Amino acid sequence: MALLPILCYPDPRLHTVAKPVAAVDDRIRTLVADMLDTMYDAKGIGLAATQIDVHERVIVIDVSEERDDPIVLINPELVWTSPGTHLNEEGCLSVPGIYDGVERFDAVHVRAMDLAGQVRTIEAEELLAVCIQHEMDHLMGKVFVEYLSPLKRNRIKTKLRKAQREDAR
Ligand code: NI
Repeated sequence: MALLPILCYPDPRLHTVAKPVAAVDDRIRTLVADMLDTMYDAKGIGLAATQIDVHERVIVIDVSEERDDPIVLINPELVWTSPGTHLNEEGCLSVPGIYDGVERFDAVHVRAMDLAGQVRTIEAEELLAVCIQHEMDHLMGKVFVEYLSPLKRNRIKTKLRKAQREDAR
């Protein structure tokens, strides 16, 4: 088991655009295992490789209550989005303690490779759909607070920078 440090907003590395994974090999399998350990340890429902400073298109998610249903998305692509959207209260392991509303598609279909290198399409709605959209934004270098007003975002930056300074003491 390996726990990886999670980058905290406003760390500029969170804005790196991830590259596609060339092959699902032992290195990627180890990365995914470590990401799952890190996500479960942090009590998150999703983690993108970007958040642990690895800039490749890898996401892990588990929205189950029992925390025993991991989903691994490698090179994910949205192939369909619903016409409807809704406002959803979101948080992020990279933005600790901050929750705010973001408009997301109600449902999405995502095509991605799994750990066996098989391409599959997942039809997602509700929390899973929101989580997939949130994590795919991370791979594009986007953090959910960037949907908020500049005023709110600056307040969040100030608050988190202060908390990080206090942590460093
Ligand atoms: Ni996040």
